[in-house]
Amino acid sequence: MLSKTIQEALNAQIGLEAASSQAYLAMASWADIQPGLQGVSEFFYKQSDEERVHMLKLIKFVNERGGFGIVPHLGQPIITFQSIKRVFEEFLAHEIKVSESINDLVHMALQEKDYATHNFLQWYVSEQIEEERLARTLNEKLEMIGEDKSGLYLFDRDILNFRLQISGGGGGGRGGH
Ligand code: FEO
Repeated sequence: MLSKTIQEALNAQIGLEAASSQAYLAMASWADIQPGLQGVSEFFYKQSDEERVHMLKLIKFVNERGGFGIVPHLGQPIITFQSIKRVFEEFLAHEIKVSESINDLVHMALQEKDYATHNFLQWYVSEQIEEERLARTLNEKLEMIGEDKSGLYLFDRDILNFRLQISGGGGGGRGGH
């Protein structure tokens, strides 16, 4: 059985994963209408789906443990971006925020001696290492490319492969959902 504190914290995390899914969906849609960013658009559609899986996994865990996983109220995410660089900076900042939140949850689970939740959260700890690495790598690549149009063309063409190489496609790489 989950304590009230843990249940509330897990429900807050459900909200954060849902907000991540929405934020990445907005990035996907924005990229979808820019010329030459089809790969980036597809990348963020996939990221959005993955965040929804992260949310679902949490909802099911809370319910399995005798709690109630609450579908959150969501505000509109950022929907337009000044540049492709801004999109990826937002992506990294967002993943860092999620990692911090997961770390806080892990800390809380230990404090409360909730080892089942602690064990469950390890999947998210590994996931965040990969997501942050992916976001950092993509930011570094964009930094190198600068204003070079042919570099950006290759970035867009290869981004789904980078995703596979770095995160194994994400979400299901280490034991699945
Ligand atoms: Fe589920 Fe990328 O945080």
